[in-house]
Amino acid sequence: MESCRLHLRAMLLLVAFLYPAFVQSLVRHYKFSVVFKNTTKLCSSKPTITVNGKFPGPTLYAREDDTVIVRVINHVNHNLTIHWHGVKQLGTVWADGPAYITQCPIQPGQNFIYNFTFTGQRGTLLWHAHTSWLRATLHGAIVILPKRGTPYPFPTPDEEKTVILAEWWKSDVEAVVNQSVQSGLPPNVSDAHTINGHAGPVPGCSSPGGYTLHVESGKTYLLRIINAALNDDLFFKIAGHNLTVVEVDASYTKPFQTDTIFISPGQTTNAILTANQGIGKYLIAASPFMDAPVGFDNLTSIASLRYKGTPANPKAFLTSIPPQNATPVTNTFMNALRSLNSKQYPANVPLTIDHSLFFTIAVGVNPCATCVNGSKLVAAFNNVSFVMPTIALLQAYYYNKKGVYTLDFPANPPIPFNYTGNSTANMQTTNGTRLYRLGYNSTVQIVLQGTAIIAPESHPTHLHGFNFFVVGKGIGNFDPKKDPKTFNLVDPIERNTISVPTGGWTAIRFRADNPGIWFLHCHLEVHTTWGLKMAFLVENGKGPNETLRPPPADLPTC
Ligand SMILES: *[C@@H]1O[C@H](CO)[C@@H](O)[C@H](O)[C@H]1NC(C)=O
Ligand SMILES: *[C@@H]1O[C@H](CO)[C@@H](O)[C@H](O)[C@H]1NC(C)=O
Ligand SMILES: *[C@@H]1O[C@H](CO)[C@@H](O)[C@H](O)[C@H]1NC(C)=O
Ligand SMILES: *[C@@H]1O[C@H](CO)[C@@H](O)[C@H](O)[C@H]1NC(C)=O
Ligand SMILES: *[C@@H]1O[C@H](CO)[C@@H](O)[C@H](O)[C@H]1NC(C)=O
Ligand SMILES: *[C@@H]1O[C@H](CO)[C@@H](O)[C@H](O)[C@H]1NC(C)=O
Ligand SMILES: *[C@@H]1O[C@H](CO)[C@@H](O)[C@H](O)[C@H]1NC(C)=O
Ligand SMILES: *[C@@H]1O[C@H](CO)[C@@H](O)[C@H](O)[C@H]1NC(C)=O
Ligand SMILES: *[C@@H]1O[C@H](CO)[C@@H](O)[C@H](O)[C@H]1NC(C)=O
Ligand SMILES: *[C@@H]1O[C@H](CO)[C@@H](O)[C@H](O)[C@H]1NC(C)=O
Ligand SMILES: *[C@@H]1O[C@H](CO)[C@@H](O)[C@H](O)[C@H]1NC(C)=O
Ligand SMILES: *[C@@H]1O[C@H](CO)[C@@H](O)[C@H](O)[C@H]1NC(C)=O
Repeated sequence: MESCRLHLRAMLLLVAFLYPAFVQSLVRHYKFSVVFKNTTKLCSSKPTITVNGKFPGPTLYAREDDTVIVRVINHVNHNLTIHWHGVKQLGTVWADGPAYITQCPIQPGQNFIYNFTFTGQRGTLLWHAHTSWLRATLHGAIVILPKRGTPYPFPTPDEEKTVILAEWWKSDVEAVVNQSVQSGLPPNVSDAHTINGHAGPVPGCSSPGGYTLHVESGKTYLLRIINAALNDDLFFKIAGHNLTVVEVDASYTKPFQTDTIFISPGQTTNAILTANQGIGKYLIAASPFMDAPVGFDNLTSIASLRYKGTPANPKAFLTSIPPQNATPVTNTFMNALRSLNSKQYPANVPLTIDHSLFFTIAVGVNPCATCVNGSKLVAAFNNVSFVMPTIALLQAYYYNKKGVYTLDFPANPPIPFNYTGNSTANMQTTNGTRLYRLGYNSTVQIVLQGTAIIAPESHPTHLHGFNFFVVGKGIGNFDPKKDPKTFNLVDPIERNTISVPTGGWTAIRFRADNPGIWFLHCHLEVHTTWGLKMAFLVENGKGPNETLRPPPADLPTC
């Protein structure tokens, strides 16, 4: 008996001793208190909705295979949800977060626990509110380190820095979107762009100080760059320094050098900066990209990179920002992106397709008796402006509640036309809560076709729950005979958000191996508001891990 106990104690000691090596994955707990906080570092002091009083919000740090448990406590007078943008949510669709798609909002005074695991992913992603326009200030980084003992597929940098780009309105963003919905007109553009919460010296919205990236000569830095802006594609540059891109949307890439990063709302880019220039101060710029005749915030946000040993009040090295309509710069950047496609990180591109879909992306105009011009701006995939239900689609599906949605989202536009021509036909959209059904493990190709209705524009399109491969892109109308021959099925970039070029198309492929309801939408919040969204219903498979699980007990109700 005694020796047995001793044995047990020895064993426990041994386990305790070996524990750090045994622990492959951890459960990490976070508390997100959503509270009002007066901002001080931006041009307008106003009560701003924040997580834990921070703008940007706290970073979620984890390793691949870790589980995170985030308790969100809503202390403000707004409904809200949090979305873990780019997280695959294998088996945990209930934790995905888009309001009225996978869950009802967390109402004022309520709590909800998001519980999910980072399976098969490592890199940088972001979290953000997924209700109305609240993500303007409710956002932060997600950093998923590789599994313990697994190196990066590039030389380990000396340090890592998170760089979050965003947009700032002097007014309450909810007032901005309300005004637009009531008038039927475009919403007011933002008053500044920000880099880690600072605008820098911006006309009309200057803020004290600015973000400083401190570096030491000879060291390397992994910059985890995130575009958390609502409506603006951005260029990111550092004077006098090139960047080596190694990952986008938590997928490793073949490394390539560039002096300009092009990044759309919802996208992330990891790039290595080598501090190989003379001691001094170098400007960092985040400037907008827009190659369509629509209004946008044209202000550049400024930060600085500062070498250790730089004297006080140095003259800064300047950088030239790309012209706002620098389409070629965006193309050069996007064309350089390739999956790493190594033995360890293969690009598993679906080679056969079960569902071949063709979605037009359009902004249109519908009649509206109460609006300023008797009409309102709308937007649609395949001419269907998506109508948000009043209960969550996933709940309706799970509890078999009828009449909330239909499963007839069209695989093709109702009428083919010259999509990128100057046709004024098809301006009016229909509406509905229409979903597209996919069998478990089926493969999907979507050609996202931009149109010239109202104005051609670049649309960063985001799919929840899956990474997709970007197999092709082009300008003008997609040609189903010629264009597939040019597809890259070997090492296309894998990501969760893709910028469909202005007046052009992009083809993506993914495998629907995760049951649930998954949102697809333009990540320009203005277009999401106008209806540029739809959802896929992925059916259950046969095995136990291929079946939608019951909802968590604390899931909010509507
Ligand atoms: C926050 O700012 C508003 C508007 O500037 C002001 O009225 C209010 O007193 C401030 N609140 C706090 C707690 O500082
Ligand atoms: C998180 O989910 C796991 C797996 O379903 C479950 O065992 C665990 O109890 C959950 N934790 C919390 C705090 O809800
Ligand atoms: C915006 O509209 C919503 C719904 O109509 C309303 O509840 C809210 O108070 C409005 N917010 C602002 C800031 O105008
Ligand atoms: C939008 O801009 C117009 C014109 O500058 C201004 O009158 C209006 O108050 C702004 N709306 C909001 C909600 O800030
Ligand atoms: C940056 O890269 C470009 C093109 O690869 C090259 O021409 C340029 O000299 C590089 N600049 C620096 C500072 O390394
Ligand atoms: C930015 O936009 C404002 C307002 O639309 C305009 O007056 C200004 O000339 C623009 N600036 C640049 C650099 O395009
Ligand atoms: C579509 O419209 C464009 C621009 O007007 C034109 O150049 C092109 O020839 C048209 N294509 C077809 C197939 O009509
Ligand atoms: C395109 O625009 C031109 C000039 O505005 C016009 O003459 C032509 O009829 C338009 N074509 C179509 C297909 O609308
Ligand atoms: C949907 O379309 C119908 C018919 O045109 C219209 O009455 C209704 O207001 C629209 N709903 C929304 C949310 O736009
Ligand atoms: C999904 O389909 C692929 C290709 O047919 C197959 O290799 C894989 O085993 C399937 N996965 C599941 C979970 O059924
Ligand atoms: C179920 O397991 C298979 C095989 O391990 C995996 O490919 C698939 O992604 C899993 N699906 C879910 C929803 O966990
Ligand atoms: C908050 O959400 C509940 C449940 O969906 C809904 O009944 C209520 O109208 C929402 N409140 C606002 C201000 O939108």
